[in-house]
Amino acid sequence: MSLIAVYPGTFDPITNGHVDIVRRSLNLFDKVIVAVAENVRKAPLFSLEERAAMITASVDDKRVEVESFGGLLVDYCRKRGARVAIRGLRAIADFEYEFQFAHMNRHLAPDVETIFLMTSEESFYVSSSLVKEVAAMGGDITRIVPPAVVAALKNRKTSP
Ligand code: COA
Repeated sequence: MSLIAVYPGTFDPITNGHVDIVRRSLNLFDKVIVAVAENVRKAPLFSLEERAAMITASVDDKRVEVESFGGLLVDYCRKRGARVAIRGLRAIADFEYEFQFAHMNRHLAPDVETIFLMTSEESFYVSSSLVKEVAAMGGDITRIVPPAVVAALKNRKTSP
């Protein structure tokens, strides 16, 4: 039986920190589904298709699948036969939100476990919002996001 994990997020856009989490998840699971959330709460800069395309361009591995999803994460995990949802933990600030998120998901679906991976030290200060802000103001983002994201943000000279 192959072990499948879902790595959900808004990925608006994907950063090197996310890529690192995907790579390390592949050491633990046979297949990782990067699940791009519609996330109406965040009003993303990039469309679902654009976000998915940037992930596909940034993570080149046959064991990774990129798909968008709407509705509850736990329903999506069950639909895809995944018993694990992966989340990256950066600083202490992430903890409270992730704690609540994991417990609510366990309340909804005790059969889906949330596993946390510590974000690498190069990325613990990075977030998608900061990347967009720095790029919009002409700052250098080449070391914190994949090349496909640098190009996409260059073409999208919109304020964050
Ligand atoms: N490296 C760099 N940045 C990282 C990171 C890492 N390893 N891990 C997280 N981040 C950043 C992201 O860039 C993002 O930054 P932003 O807030 O500036 O956009 C932030 O941390 C958190 O983003 P992400 O991990 O993508 O999560 P999210 O909060 O955007 O997404 C969902 C949360 C979509 C997974 C969640 O809301 C969900 O599952 N929704 C579906 C509906 C549902 O089931 N609701 C009930 C939940 S209990």
